[in-house]
Amino acid sequence: MQARAPLMAEHRLINKVVGLFKKKMEIMKKNKKADVDFIRGIIDFIRIYADKTHHGKEEDILFENLDKKSMEEKDREDMEELIQEHRWTRKKVKNLEKALEKYAGGEQKSINDIIENTEKLVEFYPRHIEKEDRGFFLVSRKYLSQQEENEMLKEFKDFDSRMIHEKYEAFQKKLAENI
Ligand SMILES: [Fe+2]
Ligand SMILES: [Fe+2]
Repeated sequence: MQARAPLMAEHRLINKVVGLFKKKMEIMKKNKKADVDFIRGIIDFIRIYADKTHHGKEEDILFENLDKKSMEEKDREDMEELIQEHRWTRKKVKNLEKALEKYAGGEQKSINDIIENTEKLVEFYPRHIEKEDRGFFLVSRKYLSQQEENEMLKEFKDFDSRMIHEKYEAFQKKLAENI
């Protein structure tokens, strides 16, 4: 199996959730109201699943392995662009969260910032995913042996198995801070 297979399976789930977020956005636009719990759930999904778990495996394992290879200039630039795009999502999610918390605190006009950041994120993910699925992931195969692919698959599993613990360790810390 190619190491990209589990990443591509994760892309499907991300796109499904983003699709639901897009539907929610249309409703928000119409009603000028935000569903705070729904968006808090989305923020958690993007941070823990799409970013920490998924981008985490891409950056810390796949890209890290490729970085050691003598890659063609164009391929290296494409990889760098994907990393920059991951960074961009972190900023947008932070902005979304700020706007959401203001809104939850009673600042009605923050709905505009919520919609604006949501719009950017739902437009971004399918594009980024397509770039990986149909572009960089295919291109990067030429740099990796089957053995390297197998090793990466193992590393992916170890990486994933840490996530649930990290999530709830952070949860405990937050509880302790807010008590
Ligand atoms: Fe990515
Ligand atoms: Fe990805």
